[in-house]
Amino acid sequence: MKKLTALALAGCMAVSLAACGGSASTTPASSEAASTESAATSAAESAAESVTEATQGGKVGVCIYKFDDAFMTTYRNALQEILEGKGYEVTIVDGNNDQAKQNEQINTFITQGVDALIINPVMTSAADQIISTVKGADVPTVLINREPTADQMSAYDKLVYVGCDAAQSGTFQGELILDTENKGDINGDGKVSYIMIQGDPENIDAQLRTEYSVKALTDAGVEVEQLDLQRGDWDRNKGQEICQNDLAKYGDQIEVVFCNNDDMAIGALQAIQAAGRTVNKDIYLVGVDALDAAKNEVANGNMTGTVLNDAKGQATQAVASMEELLGGKTFEAGSQSVYVDYVKVTPDNVKDFQ
Ligand code: BGC
Repeated sequence: MKKLTALALAGCMAVSLAACGGSASTTPASSEAASTESAATSAAESAAESVTEATQGGKVGVCIYKFDDAFMTTYRNALQEILEGKGYEVTIVDGNNDQAKQNEQINTFITQGVDALIINPVMTSAADQIISTVKGADVPTVLINREPTADQMSAYDKLVYVGCDAAQSGTFQGELILDTENKGDINGDGKVSYIMIQGDPENIDAQLRTEYSVKALTDAGVEVEQLDLQRGDWDRNKGQEICQNDLAKYGDQIEVVFCNNDDMAIGALQAIQAAGRTVNKDIYLVGVDALDAAKNEVANGNMTGTVLNDAKGQATQAVASMEELLGGKTFEAGSQSVYVDYVKVTPDNVKDFQ
């Protein structure tokens, strides 16, 4: 850790030396200035190389909110593969959906002297506490999947959030429905009647997907009717139960089933099929994530569409941001979030994602 800091500092000093000679770098005033600049540049380069070598053997602690989550499993596996491929010593722990447990895990990693942390918080509301802990221990940290506010992040300049713009995924879900032949109004009564199966409502992804999927319809001038909204906590079994109960209660009135993620949509599909309904014929079904199972169902016509939540892209970006932090980079308030784009997945393009 000490070696890392020293090397990172050397790198920063060299870079700022070069920056001091800024005027020299565009119009060298003298050969002395020019040689100072090139000495500084090569010092920066060699320091940067050493940082890369040193960090790539570094210890990284990864906290996942719970292992038993389909999307986070794909994400976690991608993180492990990328980090190990780069030679890091990686330990990944399961928070079991328990914030107190995750707080202990963070403290244990700190005591063990990790060089960096990648944390998928159990609860967004725990962000302040997590940030103050990692700041107190001066451990560069990348938060993933549950976005704190810009204000919360501004407390620590060695902190980055890597995720996606959840509103975009909601908008894309709404657009998938708008792209159907009847814009979701299967029974032609002039309004789209839907049920919303929500993730954990404490999670901003759940809040924004719920809001923006419907907003895409209303913004397009489509009238909507919400028959039910229930929390399914991102869970397949809960998705199945909620959809089964709603189908029993509302029957053919349900034209669209919005699910905040694919795992719940796969559960909902089981209920839809058990009730003798046919997706894309007498009911529409959309999710988010593009899990393998969901992509297969989109290809088979059993899901109207999904939205790629790019686990590999986010894992790659999380590691890249971690390496910037390890290289000594700090982040200003308001520029601490890095977003990876969502992509609409439909029967027409699903093959590109399989
Ligand atoms: C994913 C869900 C996942 C959740 C975990 C969301 O971005 O879409 O599938 O359960 O993150 O926080």
